[in-house]
Amino acid sequence: MVSCGGLMNTISTVLLKFILPTVFMVYVVVTVKQWASLGTVETYSAMSCENVVGAIREYNSINSVSDHIDKYTPVEDQNTLREMMQITRLRCNCPKPPYWLKPVNERRIEEGKKWEFEKNKRLEPLSICKAMSPFNYIGGGITVEPYQTVPIVGLSLHPIVEQMLPNLNTNITLQISSTKKMGKLHLSKLITPMMLENYVISGEKAFELRINLKQNIELLKAILDNKILYSSDNYELDARDKLQITLLNFTADIYVRIRREPLPDLYDPGERNSVIDKVTVITKTFERPDVIEQFVASVHKYYPNISLIIADDSEFPKPIKKDHVKYFVMPFREGSFPGRNLALSQVRTKYVVFLDDDMFFTSETNLEIMMEKLEDPNIDMDINCGEVKNLGILKGFRSIGYNDTQGYCNMGAFFKHNNLVPGYPQCGWGEMFMFFFMAKTAVLRKIGAYPQIVQAAHEEAWIDAIGKAKCAFCPDSSVYHIRGRNKKYSAYRRESQSILFSDPLALFENNMCYWWSWYKFPRVPNFSIKVENPLT
Ligand SMILES: *[C@@H]1O[C@H](CO)[C@@H](O)[C@H](O)[C@H]1NC(C)=O
Ligand SMILES: *[C@@H]1O[C@H](CO)[C@@H](O)[C@H](O)[C@H]1NC(C)=O
Ligand SMILES: *[C@@H]1O[C@H](CO)[C@@H](O)[C@H](O)[C@H]1NC(C)=O
Ligand SMILES: *[C@@H]1O[C@H](CO)[C@@H](O)[C@H](O)[C@H]1NC(C)=O
Ligand SMILES: *[C@@H]1O[C@H](CO)[C@@H](O)[C@H](O)[C@H]1NC(C)=O
Repeated sequence: MVSCGGLMNTISTVLLKFILPTVFMVYVVVTVKQWASLGTVETYSAMSCENVVGAIREYNSINSVSDHIDKYTPVEDQNTLREMMQITRLRCNCPKPPYWLKPVNERRIEEGKKWEFEKNKRLEPLSICKAMSPFNYIGGGITVEPYQTVPIVGLSLHPIVEQMLPNLNTNITLQISSTKKMGKLHLSKLITPMMLENYVISGEKAFELRINLKQNIELLKAILDNKILYSSDNYELDARDKLQITLLNFTADIYVRIRREPLPDLYDPGERNSVIDKVTVITKTFERPDVIEQFVASVHKYYPNISLIIADDSEFPKPIKKDHVKYFVMPFREGSFPGRNLALSQVRTKYVVFLDDDMFFTSETNLEIMMEKLEDPNIDMDINCGEVKNLGILKGFRSIGYNDTQGYCNMGAFFKHNNLVPGYPQCGWGEMFMFFFMAKTAVLRKIGAYPQIVQAAHEEAWIDAIGKAKCAFCPDSSVYHIRGRNKKYSAYRRESQSILFSDPLALFENNMCYWWSWYKFPRVPNFSIKVENPLT
């Protein structure tokens, strides 16, 4: 091996005197060669780039520069890199809460910190790829179930390094360790004891495996070829171990994900594969017996025999007794979200339609067309909202700001023009619409509804779906809304709305220090809390 002790501290000299000229020379040779063989000018630049990298590697392996680069090139740690990425995140200054909200606000921040801590444990690691690696490896994506075994795939020598190695006359050691001690390393039984005779192995089935291969390159290649095994040794649902592999004086990090794979949530679509078998209509009603009767009649007029589930928390409920209708009576004033949860918990079909009890099916209500989109494997739509005639159309996405110490901010809506659903130009993606939709039952169950919110809350429900369901609005299916009010209903509605405006529950649930509208606190306009982004 060529000694390069004198170059240890003068990487720049190496770059200027050796690497750059070499690179340039190879570049010229390659370019000329390609011109000659391909005769096209367009292809050479992209291809020669690859060869320049090869040239650097070649030079690097000949001269063992990698030892020094590995030691002297500062590679930023994960936290620093993460902080850099966070600079462009939408941020907010949390307004001071009113005095009466202080104690609950402090509890919210405490709970929020615990939640963030759990979230950070599952962050996608940044698999930092150092330059000039003598071997190929997969930085992230290798996955294993707890207590199971996975080969560390994707390891191989760089072809030029492989060519150079026999001439280097150097001892090759291969070391691989589990830095978080979550799993053990060992070799596949295909590498037999006989093959390993004479080669010192330490730490087999331990957190670190070390092999001195002397100059046996064939054995090294055989081992790298999927024969290093990682056996998870901890019970985790979703965690990452960091493996460190050192070969030819170069160390790389490989992240292994330990993931207990959840089983599928399937629903039998029935023999006929029809909307009747695959969809249940649910609603929650309160003190409007005439309205809910009309509701049931309209649904069954257009979809006879479709399953209907109704949750009612009226004082003196009048349950509807009818085939295909399940009517659940709840304690008086149990609440809107609890009612939705109850109805949803009873659904047995793959899809569920939710609408308010004062909305009605018409000849323009088309459940088939809504279901078709949820079943299209190319678009991953979870919730398909239809139009509610004679109520406004809601659209847009939510601007969610972050504050590192005090929670999140709901800063209002933002709009994008390129939000059309591929293949369905009548539909647009968004994060808040009117309450008439068809959803995948499994997805809606996971979102759930926070039962402490008892009033007829709207934005709160949509905020809960952010990041959990992909929603779109399509006006190709609609229902009709009537203002079905009576004295008793209106009195309770007024009362509950007055509570809602000053109720901090929605803020608490989503760890929000600010909600742009609706709540009477904190009373500041959304633009005044926005933190300027230093980069854009
Ligand atoms: C969080 O909000 C507080 C109070 O408004 C503010 O002083 C702080 O700078 C904010 N922090 C971040 C990281 O946005
Ligand atoms: C390789 O290691 C052995 C000891 O394991 C040592 O005797 C030998 O000199 C080393 N060879 C080289 C080329 O470093
Ligand atoms: C690794 O580095 C040591 C000294 O740091 C050197 O003696 C050895 O030859 C290097 N091995 C390879 C394969 O580059
Ligand atoms: C609807 O259900 C009734 C029983 O409730 C049954 O007699 C009838 O055949 C069903 N109709 C359809 C179209 O499934
Ligand atoms: C404030 O809210 C309004 C209404 O949703 C929105 O149009 C505007 O973009 C928001 N401003 C900021 C700074 O988020």
